[in-house]
Amino acid sequence: MDVAKLAVPAVRQAEVKSDKQLNIQYEKMCDCSPNHINCLTAKEWIKNQIGVWQFYYESRDIRDKKHHPATFPISLARRCIELFTHKGELVVDPFVGSGTTLVAARDLSRNAVGFDLQQNYIELSQKDCARNFV
Ligand SMILES: C[S@@+](CC[C@H](N)C(=O)[O-])C[C@H]1O[C@@H](n2cnc3c(N)ncnc32)[C@H](O)[C@@H]1O
Repeated sequence: MDVAKLAVPAVRQAEVKSDKQLNIQYEKMCDCSPNHINCLTAKEWIKNQIGVWQFYYESRDIRDKKHHPATFPISLARRCIELFTHKGELVVDPFVGSGTTLVAARDLSRNAVGFDLQQNYIELSQKDCARNFV
């Protein structure tokens, strides 16, 4: 299954208001046992249990406030997605902004959909997803 093809980067407001269903894959495609809440190994899980999280920026991160005033690092979105989802599942970001969550989800072979009040941020997130393949 090709997750990148199935992932929908962002949805225009008009589409959200309609009664159309989004055709996005959402079922896990890993071999994890049913009682696992994520695909992390026990060792990776322990590493995530430290009280203070530190993040780094990478070149793909949008840090220029002219594009969006409040972006998160991709590494933050990545960590949350890894903690609470399996490969193939669907990540929903109702405040998508520049699309950081969508980029992280795709990196991790998760499907994703994002919403934003502002059309210009929907467009920014679509552009961001288009160029941000790892
Ligand atoms: C903190 S920013 C998200 C930044 C995003 N995590 C990123 O890295 O680019 C919050 C976003 O939520 C949007 N927003 C605020 N209220 C909203 C609402 N009620 N419904 C949908 N989007 C909303 C804003 O337009 C803004 O782009």
